[in-house]
Amino acid sequence: MERDSELKDRAARVIPGGMYGHMSVLKRMPPEYPQFFERAEGCHLWDVNGNEYIDYMCSYGPMIAGYANPRICAAADAQRAQLDIANGPAAVIVDLAERLVDQVSHAEWAMFAKNGNDATTICVMCARARSDKPVILVANGAYHGAQPWANYMSKGTPSEEHRNFQPYEFNNVTSLDEAASKVQGRLAGIIVSAFRHDAGHHQELTDPEFAQRVREICDQEEAALILDDVRAGLRLSLDASWSALGINPDLSAWGKGIANGEPLAAVLGNDLYREAMTTIFVTGSFWYQAAPMAAAIETLDVLSELNGPTLMGRLGQQLRDGLYEQAQRHGHGIIQSGPPQMPTLMFENDPRAETGIAFCGLAAKEGVYLHPWHNMFLSTAHTEDDIQRTLEATDEAFRKLG
Ligand SMILES: Cc1ncc(COP(=O)(O)O)c(C=O)c1O
Repeated sequence: MERDSELKDRAARVIPGGMYGHMSVLKRMPPEYPQFFERAEGCHLWDVNGNEYIDYMCSYGPMIAGYANPRICAAADAQRAQLDIANGPAAVIVDLAERLVDQVSHAEWAMFAKNGNDATTICVMCARARSDKPVILVANGAYHGAQPWANYMSKGTPSEEHRNFQPYEFNNVTSLDEAASKVQGRLAGIIVSAFRHDAGHHQELTDPEFAQRVREICDQEEAALILDDVRAGLRLSLDASWSALGINPDLSAWGKGIANGEPLAAVLGNDLYREAMTTIFVTGSFWYQAAPMAAAIETLDVLSELNGPTLMGRLGQQLRDGLYEQAQRHGHGIIQSGPPQMPTLMFENDPRAETGIAFCGLAAKEGVYLHPWHNMFLSTAHTEDDIQRTLEATDEAFRKLG
């Protein structure tokens, strides 16, 4: 029996449902997709059956500068050899905070945690602490983590948990105005994504007028503009993702790519929120780990030396142009959305992503790991040669799709 099937059988006995969360391939993923991997290098992955893939999921975002990036691993290993976890943080926490404050325009302070959901939750708490008001506006369908306040998709969270989280439609000024007016006097913050990157939907770039209106409402109501840059951070810009729109958040949440896969999240904020941050108690056993912080500094160096966002954008655009040409030639209607660094590929008239799932399964057999309904991720480890090899594989996949 192949190793992946054997591990799946064993997992089914000792892990509820066989696997959980976004990394389970058991639900709605192509049957060809392996569940377990053995090795990763650059933008290449090897599954436990020995198959190699050019990877366009990048661990769902954390890998931004290549798996096993030698410079980043060396920085983390050197720090780990000296000190990783102790009764207090290492000096590197200050180095990293200074680095982020220098790099990100709105940031006047930084603090660190482990997961994106820690970071978004800290932002929510900090916004409420400063304003002494309860309500946060959250875009319908947006993902800010799986913690109870942000979890709208599973059992285990009573609806009362969401009483102080009120919905609006991303990119829709009217709906935002309505939502804000309903909670006037009680608004602590508005949380926004870098752009609309909800899984299962075509992606939408942020409308500058919408971003402007979010800022105005937050200013009028003395509420926090919270930018959730966990997924998009460092792929679109080395600054916060809304900086290109000329809009500064008050608080921003970071995670995923910030340390190229070492466990680290960050909250950045401006001086309006500095004092409030000192009034909330947030912490975690592993939040002060030094090795991921050293990895983060090296990741920021690598991304700035390579001009990462531009490089990823160029490679993503090559992939997108190639897929478009192939789909036309093979007679398939595809819809590509989102920024080229984080592209989404879906098929026309495919509401249940059945064609997408079939296509991705065929591409996987040809050695390319795509996603049928979630945004994908480029990294600085992808090369033009990888894109070329990918396009050879997808050409074959389109052909076989018929
Ligand atoms: C936009 C966004 N916010 C928050 C999170 C939560 O991050 P984590 O999974 O690290 O807790 C994610 C994770 O996918 C995300 O994409």
